[in-house]
Amino acid sequence: MSIDHPSFGRISEDRVIIFDTTLRDGEQSPGFSMNLDEKLRMARALEALGVDIIEAGFPVASPGDFESVKRIAETVSDVVVCGLARSGGRKDIEAAGEAIAPARRRRIHNFISTSPLHMKYKLRMEPETVLELIASGNQAARRYTDDVEWSAEDGSRTEPDFLCRCVEAAIRNGATTINIPDTVGYATPEEMRAIFVMLRERVPGAEKVIFSAHNHNDLGLAVANTLASVEGGARQIECTVNGIGERAGNAALEEIVMAIRTRRDRYPFDDGIDTPKLLGVSRMLAMITGFDVQPNKAIVGRNAFAHESGIHQDGVLKNALTYEIMTPESVGWTKSSLVLGKHSGRAAFRDKLAAMGYALEESVVQQAFERFKVLADHKKTVFDDDIRALVDDESRDHERVRFVSLDLIAGSKRPAEATLELAVDGVTRAATVEGNGPVDAAFRAIQAVFPHEATLALFTIGAVTEGTDAQARTTVRLEEGGKLVDGQGADADTVVSAVRAYVHALNKLLVKRVRSEPEALIA
Ligand code: KIV
Ligand code: ZN
Repeated sequence: MSIDHPSFGRISEDRVIIFDTTLRDGEQSPGFSMNLDEKLRMARALEALGVDIIEAGFPVASPGDFESVKRIAETVSDVVVCGLARSGGRKDIEAAGEAIAPARRRRIHNFISTSPLHMKYKLRMEPETVLELIASGNQAARRYTDDVEWSAEDGSRTEPDFLCRCVEAAIRNGATTINIPDTVGYATPEEMRAIFVMLRERVPGAEKVIFSAHNHNDLGLAVANTLASVEGGARQIECTVNGIGERAGNAALEEIVMAIRTRRDRYPFDDGIDTPKLLGVSRMLAMITGFDVQPNKAIVGRNAFAHESGIHQDGVLKNALTYEIMTPESVGWTKSSLVLGKHSGRAAFRDKLAAMGYALEESVVQQAFERFKVLADHKKTVFDDDIRALVDDESRDHERVRFVSLDLIAGSKRPAEATLELAVDGVTRAATVEGNGPVDAAFRAIQAVFPHEATLALFTIGAVTEGTDAQARTTVRLEEGGKLVDGQGADADTVVSAVRAYVHALNKLLVKRVRSEPEALIA
């Protein structure tokens, strides 16, 4: 059996649609916020990865969210761009409709809570009012697009009869996709499977829509629940790169896709994902947000394909199938991630960026290339992650405050002294400041050049790759008026990487201030 869908045309029963919500459910979790440029970069990478739908944000939430959904809609060409809206919010639906308008294929995603707990305490609404809002919300969304998704928030804890009535109302009033989230990550796989079987059996019109799974990971069951939902008839999977998202996160895109690919005997479904790009997209997100995945994370963790025990190594050498259920190459791990050397030219650098999934403006490529040359001079081997770190830094050229140079006197014989140059709104300013060690001197110099009230809440240094010549990768968390922002920096020089991270965080704070309280700008 197949379905006629407004965005995808005729879709067969064995196609699963990958709905990526990294930029909405993922981005809204603490510490994972991204600026416009970072979101655009992720959106391009997700499109190249082959996801079917990008949920780009919640346009009514702030002018910044509206702008980023709109810019993503203008930037990508093929993938469906989706904006989130509350079923009961006229303004939400208007904002979502306007933000997605530039996209060639667009979707509005309406949601409202349907569980007794949420209706009584969160919404303070009677079930009949919720039903009315489902109807009016979907009708309003259909004025902007034929592709309307409706979600029953806290759907897994909703009474079955009422859930059926809600889904029926949603379909009758124009929904073409019905999403049943396990919002609080409470359900078990068998429960999720049963919900979809029930809805498909009982709800009139169910055969005309696509059912969708959206599982949170509070009990570590998000991927299992998603696979069980597919067994129950769901054909859209909502997920995020690296499983980021509210609290314990959402179902991880790379895990679901590889489970389906690896176990085709149980999940005979097709998707559009170009799996060798999975690692690159995962690394890109980690670099942007500053949150690495844990080493033992399935598919994209550093140890995911590392065989440590002698018995395993011996088996793999004799026949990889003894301990490998999928090849590392199939998800983007290459035997040698050595990329380029100091003799590599601009064209090779550009090709490498394209192969890694980057589509960058020429000015960013040029600046990143200059830094690559400097790095290649210092470092024997330049790895993919080195390139990602460089590009990540150089893609911030729209920021108000930019790092220009740092000169340091440090050591055990005298106080450290930092001479720092920053470009502020295009004008270079400098200061020379002493401190208790080089990092302290450098951070004080930032304060002298660009006075601000934020305080340092966290400072961590790691290495981008292995070896003593590895680039340092620094995370700086700043706090101002209860707001926390994380900045990342990378450089062959540890203190320069720390300054870059500090300046990145400062810029994020400036964007936040402009959004919420324009008059509060200090510098
Ligand atoms: O988890 C959830 O219920 C959601 C909805 C907005 C779909 O993210
Ligand atoms: Zn969610």
